[in-house]
Amino acid sequence: EKGGYDHFMLKEIFEQPQTIYDCLRGRLDAVHGNIILSGMNQYAEQIMNAPRIIILACGTSWHAGLVAEYIIEELCRIPVEVEYASEFRYRNPVIHKGDVIIAISQSGETADTLVAIETAKEQGAIILGIVNVVGSSIARKSHAGAYTHAGPEIGVASTKAFTAQLAVLTMIALKIAHEKGSINNERFMHLCKELADIPEKVALVLTQAEAIKVLAEKYKDATDALYLGRGYNFPIALEGALKLKEISYIHAEGYPAAEMKHGPIALVTDTLPVVFVATKDSYHEKVVSNMQEIKARKGRVIAVITEGDTISPTLADDVIIMPPADEIVAPMLSTIPMQLLAYYIGVAKGYDVDKPRNLAKSVTVE
Ligand code: M6R
Repeated sequence: EKGGYDHFMLKEIFEQPQTIYDCLRGRLDAVHGNIILSGMNQYAEQIMNAPRIIILACGTSWHAGLVAEYIIEELCRIPVEVEYASEFRYRNPVIHKGDVIIAISQSGETADTLVAIETAKEQGAIILGIVNVVGSSIARKSHAGAYTHAGPEIGVASTKAFTAQLAVLTMIALKIAHEKGSINNERFMHLCKELADIPEKVALVLTQAEAIKVLAEKYKDATDALYLGRGYNFPIALEGALKLKEISYIHAEGYPAAEMKHGPIALVTDTLPVVFVATKDSYHEKVVSNMQEIKARKGRVIAVITEGDTISPTLADDVIIMPPADEIVAPMLSTIPMQLLAYYIGVAKGYDVDKPRNLAKSVTVE
């Protein structure tokens, strides 16, 4: 049932070209510039005119929410807040009638997310569920929604569910933006095409698995690691650090690259691996200068960069190369090496990567 792979986690990482394709299939028509999300039709008007969107989730799903915040604000010009469901549910949040809540959950059973949406629903919010498990509690409690269609995710570490969440959230943002007219038609068509090309590009990224396995051997004995990124890739740094913690038990932290100077830089020594998500985007130059700051303190830099980009060999100890992609869709690519690095380090250390200690697949208690 692992389909020839050693672990479910690896199988699920490698399924991503297919799962993202399945998620887009029948919904995104990049040729004609059409996005159909039938589970949202009934509330389309309210969602488009929402004064505010609040995204609620936990763990990896919360990271997908952070990416969506950047995408929705950029494309739709609707203010977005992203909050841990566990914080939201206990803090008497301000909710106005007509606010749209997007709940993101692979399992659809996470207790905190479920109670958070029940609370918001009572106060007049419209609940949109982005869920993987069909018929799950969060799916049933939502007014509207879109399934991620990633298929069952067995590994405790979320991988394919995350990229499918990003694919759905990007479609939602594009649809709202197109209908509102907050992006022009040319940009809309371009982004539809970029999104449709993602499955193929993920397959290209996966061809680097063996090279990432070599890096895993090199860095597996680190006691700590830092993950840095900016903009759309800042949440990918958080996600990279979470994956490493879960699977390899190495202490890791993710930060927006510029925040590093406000504290974490004190950790940098010649034994600290620092993973930079530094693909070519509007933040690129800034990220490269952060990389210089780390290198000046002798950190061991692993840089995820874009094909054709020239990063001075003096800046990065190792590079992982991504195919070019618009910055809006790039996180679906840059997250793949984060998953593979965590996986191979966990395996190299002899851990049970599918069932890491102390973790459950879905957290159904608060
Ligand atoms: O099923 P959910 O998406 O609601 O789960 C949320 C988190 O528990 C989950 O993403 C967790 O952080 C994963 N173990 C991450 O790999």
